[in-house]
Amino acid sequence: MKLLKLTSMLCFRTLTIVLLTATLAENSDEARILASVPTCSYSHQIVFRPLWKALARNGHEIVLLTADPMEEEVENIRQIDLSVGYDVMERHGYNKIISNSDEMDLSFFTKMSTIIHDISMEQLLLPDMQRLIHNKSEKFDLLMLEIAFNPHIALAEKFGIPIIGLYSMDVLNYIHNNMGNDVHPVLHAELANFAGWTQPLSFTQRIFAVLFNILMNSYGEFFVNPMMNKIIQEVFGKNSRPIEELIKETDMLFLNVNPALHPIRAVTPNTIMFGGGTHLDTVAKPLPEGIKKFLDSAPDGVIYFSLGSNVKSALIRDELRQLFLETFEELPYKVLWKFENKELPNKPDNVMIQKWVPQGDVLRHPNIKVFITQCGLQSMEEAIMNHIPLVGVPFFADQPSNAAMMANKGFGIHLDHSKLTKELFKETILEVINNRKYKDKAIEIADLFRDVEMTGLEKVVWWTEYVIRNKGAKLFRNPIIDLPFYQYYLLDVIGFVGLICFIVSFGVIKISLFLFRQAKQLISKKTKKD
Ligand SMILES: *[C@@H]1O[C@H](CO)[C@@H](O)[C@H](O)[C@H]1NC(C)=O
Repeated sequence: MKLLKLTSMLCFRTLTIVLLTATLAENSDEARILASVPTCSYSHQIVFRPLWKALARNGHEIVLLTADPMEEEVENIRQIDLSVGYDVMERHGYNKIISNSDEMDLSFFTKMSTIIHDISMEQLLLPDMQRLIHNKSEKFDLLMLEIAFNPHIALAEKFGIPIIGLYSMDVLNYIHNNMGNDVHPVLHAELANFAGWTQPLSFTQRIFAVLFNILMNSYGEFFVNPMMNKIIQEVFGKNSRPIEELIKETDMLFLNVNPALHPIRAVTPNTIMFGGGTHLDTVAKPLPEGIKKFLDSAPDGVIYFSLGSNVKSALIRDELRQLFLETFEELPYKVLWKFENKELPNKPDNVMIQKWVPQGDVLRHPNIKVFITQCGLQSMEEAIMNHIPLVGVPFFADQPSNAAMMANKGFGIHLDHSKLTKELFKETILEVINNRKYKDKAIEIADLFRDVEMTGLEKVVWWTEYVIRNKGAKLFRNPIIDLPFYQYYLLDVIGFVGLICFIVSFGVIKISLFLFRQAKQLISKKTKKD
């Protein structure tokens, strides 16, 4: 009898546990995430791959709109291939423009808007995208999207879901402003970034910085946003909300920024900085045989040279490429050069060219002495994590400011390729290899990257699931965002108090004048009497 009771109790217990687990599984926060990284730039993509994989491992289902789909199949991740954008760039000669800064003048801005427009349209009109947009039974819990110039933000409105904005580096002031983060025209001057100026700025630089700030804001307001709104209305319907409104709904912002590298800015609690080599694999993959042999057989050391995936060293001007070649020939090191063409004329014997290089793994090789780089943020992080000092030869976008930041921190030297000579280039490479201080600085920053309360990846996964659990993060929304311009700058208060002061002063003056006149009259009367 007792045994029967015990058995039935056990059965009951098991049943309860099974039921409970089932309910838990149903109520758990496994979500459907729509993720959008449409920018045709490899470095913009790789930063977020560990995040997609970690979220998929936690049971979330991800539909990833990406210009560079991952080659491997990952459980719970479905990719929609947006690489058609690369064809648009090719058609507009984009790589040629950014590989030659003398072709980069003011017309670059208008050209860029045309390119962004055409890429966005072609991507949104892809059959897979159209099916996603018009599928009435499709449901999502969260939109995670690259936050700059991205019309996919309208998907949040379409599916009625919260937004997490992402970026593979720091964002423009425009985005910070929409989060209610600190934005100062001099301290956070965008011109300083483009020109590679370091703080503190001189008086002239400050004047130009403020004027440029006004220009950038106008460019966004009167040029980019109307263009985005046109795209959104064309694709999502005439009644779609404008991008200026949608962007203010952003619940959180994840930035690949790290205080050991980037300047400090006061931000709201919904801006999460996860930078510091977060995209790097913790396990090294074996190198391709040819590269491994080349690196192993260079006991005196190897210079690794790559201008990244956007700037093509096959497209830079001939004299510059010739200068690189002649310098390398005179150096007592081997050189591994990421070069896009099959043939490199006049290639010296100590130089090996490779169309594609597994950079993260190459930089781990003990024979690498220095990395000559365009100073893309991901390249810099990879170098720092592997304690490799840099020679920076920036070309465009954030590269000049990254190079200035790098030189300022002291883990390398910043060169201007338009003023470069063979002697200077050679001298700089030798200095960075032979003077220990650059490598020591890289080690110091790598240690700071690792000295954190939780890793960048852990942080962004935790906050993503927070947004899923709470259906947003409006709790942290900075009230400044909703404050009208005149209230933020206290124009009404200053105006009112000013008016009162004016009225009071006016009254005091009037009364004084009256009294003065009375007194004068009195005195003159008195004198007349006398
Ligand atoms: C529409 O979405 C549902 C839910 O995700 C999916 O099962 C279905 O296959 C989709 N239909 C099309 C035509 O893509």
